[in-house]
Amino acid sequence: MITVDYKNVLNTTIGDDFGLNLDLEFASYAPKIDEIIKNLNFNKDKQGAYLQWMNLGYNEETLWYVKEYAAMVEGRFDNVLVLGIGGSALGARAFCNALLKPYWNMLSKEERGGFPRIFFLDNIDPDEIKGLLDVLDLSKTLVNVITKSGSTAETMSQFMIIKDRLQSLLGDDYRKNIVATTDKQTGILRQIANEEGYKTFVVPDDVGGRFSVFSPVGLVPMALVGIDIDEVINGIKVMDLSLKNTDINKNIAAKNALIHYLMDTKKGHYISVMMPYSSRLKYVSDWFVQLWAESLGKEIDNNGNIVNVGPTPIKALGVTDQHSQIQLYNEGKHDKLITFIRVDEFDNTVCIPSIFEYTGLNYLGGKTINELINAEADATAVSLCDFKRPNITIKLPKVNAYYMAELFYMLEVQTAIAGELYNINPFNQPGVEQAKNYTYALMGRSGYEESKLELQEKMGLKKEAISD
Ligand code: PA5
Repeated sequence: MITVDYKNVLNTTIGDDFGLNLDLEFASYAPKIDEIIKNLNFNKDKQGAYLQWMNLGYNEETLWYVKEYAAMVEGRFDNVLVLGIGGSALGARAFCNALLKPYWNMLSKEERGGFPRIFFLDNIDPDEIKGLLDVLDLSKTLVNVITKSGSTAETMSQFMIIKDRLQSLLGDDYRKNIVATTDKQTGILRQIANEEGYKTFVVPDDVGGRFSVFSPVGLVPMALVGIDIDEVINGIKVMDLSLKNTDINKNIAAKNALIHYLMDTKKGHYISVMMPYSSRLKYVSDWFVQLWAESLGKEIDNNGNIVNVGPTPIKALGVTDQHSQIQLYNEGKHDKLITFIRVDEFDNTVCIPSIFEYTGLNYLGGKTINELINAEADATAVSLCDFKRPNITIKLPKVNAYYMAELFYMLEVQTAIAGELYNINPFNQPGVEQAKNYTYALMGRSGYEESKLELQEKMGLKKEAISD
């Protein structure tokens, strides 16, 4: 299993001012954690509790349908294009970046084992969209449009552009190039998919976007490029079993959640840095940043009080960001808790040749890049401790589907437990709605006329300046 090392948050390592006495804290929070874990598991099937993500590891039927579809389309497409944003894209992108051979899209079909290239279009930059459409042969591209609500403007505008092009290219056959992942009943994409007859997968009820990576939202793109989703499911199950343990001393998600909570509320370390020492794990941070920020950044607590809480997540990459952010982490404000992700065994060993022996580089010759990256990770963790900066290390034995699933599921449970500690609802996102509504108003969506007037006033614009 993945492991977590907490010694660099202890007061015995970094001192009493910034370190924690975990024995005492775990003992004092044990009853609370016990109650939280029991409640999570007890309520996971309750409608409206938004805990269905805890059941995704046990959905054999979905797994079967996803695998069946992937087998059916195998070899038929050169590319997969995922249209989705936020929780509808970040998980699958992180898994693909971690588990596919690096530079996957530059490999030949044979080198990819016959599986397609994969592209994630999770922005609406016109230059990027035009650039991608210039290089993609859409006739050989399977488009997986993913939106739980079925109406997200970014995803649906991309889809409108691409569907239009596909239809011009392929006529009525264009449908074979589309697979839609959305709500089973509601939303505009569901309406379109039913009307036009697309292959669809369902985002289950009570699974929020940022907790949906193990639903068809993540599993379909993974399966299409040959990721072993059975191993993903195995990883979730093993971790889920372990995290059912209500004893904080034996539950890594609970420990992580409590340490982050205490570092924020007791020590003022409200910034959570996620820093994998592996390029393949780079997008784990992107996924985690959304999970942590959107789940925990809340204005109102469960009792209706205005609290404005939430740790601020930051993404960093080891070793690259040692040359960018570590100066700040070592010497800046005492406000950060850094989580490293380390890999015990890389797939490859790369040797540094013994050349330039006559120079000061002779200490590198004959070593491996693997030794160098691990030495740098060790050195960074120890130097942070010298500066009394708390840090945690999560270790993956290897980067594979199983350990990735363990890691992601653990971080999801950690987030749910942290939500309970902050006494907020980690499964809503009211703060995102306002800007969405203003966008609809600016784009002239019907029903948003009042927001438009409000906006005009706030932007200090004359009525005519806002286009209809
Ligand atoms: O986590 C979330 O809920 C969000 O990030 C959503 O995933 C994102 O806004 C996209 O929503 P949808 O899937 O409805 O298009």
